[in-house]
Amino acid sequence: MAAIAFSKLLSLAAIVTVARAQYWIFGGTPPIVTTRLDPVVFPNSIGGHVHSVVGASRFKEVYDPDDLVQSNCTTIPVQPDKSNYWAPQLYHRDQQTGQLTPIPTSFNIYYLQRPGPLNQPIKAFPKGLRMLAGDTERRSYNASSFADQAISFVCQDFSGAHDNDPDWAERPDFFDHNCPDGMRAEVFFPSCWDGVNLDSSDHKSHLSYPIQNFNSGDCPDSHPVHLVSLFYEMLVQVDQFDYWGPGTWVLANGDTSGYGHHGDFTNGWDVDLLQNALDNCPNANGNVMDCPVLAAVFDQASASACVLETDIVDEEIGFNAPLTILPGCNPLWNGTVAKPACPDPNAPTPALVPAQTPIPTGWTELGCIAEGTSGRALTGASTTSPNMTRAVCAGFCASRGFSLAGAEYSDECYCDNEMRNGATMDLVTWNECTNHCAGNINEICGGPQRLTFMIASNVASSATPSPA
Ligand SMILES: *[C@@H]1O[C@H](CO)[C@@H](O)[C@H](O)[C@H]1NC(C)=O
Ligand SMILES: *[C@@H]1O[C@H](CO)[C@@H](O)[C@H](O)[C@H]1NC(C)=O
Ligand SMILES: *[C@@H]1O[C@H](CO)[C@@H](O)[C@H](O)[C@H]1NC(C)=O
Ligand SMILES: *[C@@H]1O[C@H](CO)[C@@H](O)[C@H](O)[C@H]1NC(C)=O
Repeated sequence: MAAIAFSKLLSLAAIVTVARAQYWIFGGTPPIVTTRLDPVVFPNSIGGHVHSVVGASRFKEVYDPDDLVQSNCTTIPVQPDKSNYWAPQLYHRDQQTGQLTPIPTSFNIYYLQRPGPLNQPIKAFPKGLRMLAGDTERRSYNASSFADQAISFVCQDFSGAHDNDPDWAERPDFFDHNCPDGMRAEVFFPSCWDGVNLDSSDHKSHLSYPIQNFNSGDCPDSHPVHLVSLFYEMLVQVDQFDYWGPGTWVLANGDTSGYGHHGDFTNGWDVDLLQNALDNCPNANGNVMDCPVLAAVFDQASASACVLETDIVDEEIGFNAPLTILPGCNPLWNGTVAKPACPDPNAPTPALVPAQTPIPTGWTELGCIAEGTSGRALTGASTTSPNMTRAVCAGFCASRGFSLAGAEYSDECYCDNEMRNGATMDLVTWNECTNHCAGNINEICGGPQRLTFMIASNVASSATPSPA
């Protein structure tokens, strides 16, 4: 992952001379959720299309910066960054059946200092800032437009076999061939702010690209505050699927060209910490650890254990079985013809449901506990299931007459009426339970030698609070 990110940086850095080239990368960040929500463009409602969303655990249908910063955690290892970052999910379309399968995705998120000749000071994102780059409706490329230049695709082939092949060069739309080491869908955000508005009706006009270039330069008088430059690489594992021609790859908005790619951001940073990092990391060359104020709060364990606390849209998005049509009104559209009608115009609007399946009434989740020292903590009954969730485990234990339940290793469940083999109800740090449930990626079912521990509430608990 570091190699991918680094090679990209060299190409970006090569085209611009800057006084301060410090940057850091949150590399290989997994989504916190994939769902049809968009608190910037569709606040308080169901979104237009499915997004792959990275970052803080209180992402929801409306952006409230005071609420977002209260998130328990984020999939970004620097935990004081409670921002959310999102882009449309990319699907693979089967040539014979037309079925759509979501392609696994992770993000490299760059924070770059890109001033121009005036060397304007680089500012942190203000509290409450939200923004959108790219345009879901765009189906053409204007080479003179910075906004269009800011959206691009890179085909990864680490063998070097296509290094100087123009058909494999970075481009504004999808390739006409597969990418042996995955494809990057890239969004470069505008870095000049009007200094007043945290949003605007198009979610763009409160910001501007710099004067000289989309990815560096001085800010115009209309937007005089030079913010840190934000750049996403959404890495999609297109190499895991066959390529059969135009229409193989479909963005969640129905776009088969790639021109409609875009990215959204809602600020959840500790703004003072971000400014401190921008001011005091002169030697940062991509690695967060080269920035002392960020290294001090780097916490990969919490990032890995982080799951969504809020709601998702109650609809299939393709991870359980391929889709026949995309969620929302998103007909396949490459832009060379008029936009087709909705494939299912009478589809009811789905509801929001908790991302984590609630555990049965009468049960309480206490937290993460350690296995026994001389054997399993719970030995009364056990089961495994590809559908394992906390609710499935507690329900299984209840059905066998047990009052203690522990989910472990994603798909295992153990029951008992007392703690055995040296195990206790003392909670360990919450982020030691890191295994996403086999039956619901949005909740945790234990970890290595660790149980997500639940108890029927008529049982006296001697559990101690989790260390912070
Ligand atoms: C997450 O926050 C909720 C409150 O929103 C709290 O009840 C819960 O204990 C927290 N979980 C962790 C793991 O910190
Ligand atoms: C292309 O972009 C340039 C710069 O923003 C703009 O002046 C021009 O009108 C655009 N052309 C078209 C055809 O939209
Ligand atoms: C675009 O879509 C139209 C209508 O489906 C189709 O006829 C055309 O071949 C497509 N073009 C490309 C380049 O995919
Ligand atoms: C898992 O859930 C699926 C879909 O509800 C069901 O068909 C399957 O039988 C379940 N498997 C087990 C082992 O419970």
